[in-house]
Amino acid sequence: MCKPDAVERGLVGEIVSRIERKGLVIKEMDMRIPSVALAEAHYEEHADKPFYRELVDFLTRGPVVAMVIEGPDGNTFSLMRMLIGKTNVDDAQPGSIRGDFATITNENLVHGSDAHESAVREIALWFPA
Ligand code: CMP
Repeated sequence: MCKPDAVERGLVGEIVSRIERKGLVIKEMDMRIPSVALAEAHYEEHADKPFYRELVDFLTRGPVVAMVIEGPDGNTFSLMRMLIGKTNVDDAQPGSIRGDFATITNENLVHGSDAHESAVREIALWFPA
């Protein structure tokens, strides 16, 4: 998902281009302003964290671009996480999206599922059948 900061900064094309150049396939794509309920459900694993409310406020402040990305093996989430870079911007390597474009951890441009099971859960939330 391209988060609101990516849309605001005009980086959606850059991010989508990197996904395509890697050889991954965009199966679904939708731009929308998420509801508070959707953002809360998306980040439910962080509900007890001090930054949870800030995270929900951030995700709902403007349009995001939600995508379903498919690769040849069952490891698409891990390929995507390599493209995205580490969560903490101080650790995000140059060459990754966050390493190249993000300067603060809570506005880090992209979200990627952290496991196959998380991808299944998140796809069901964002693209219900
Ligand atoms: P994301 O990959 O979307 O998953 C959880 C998000 O929480 C993460 O990206 C960051 O944007 C955010 N996050 C993680 N750690 C912190 C933190 N210490 N303070 C604020 N936001 C954080």
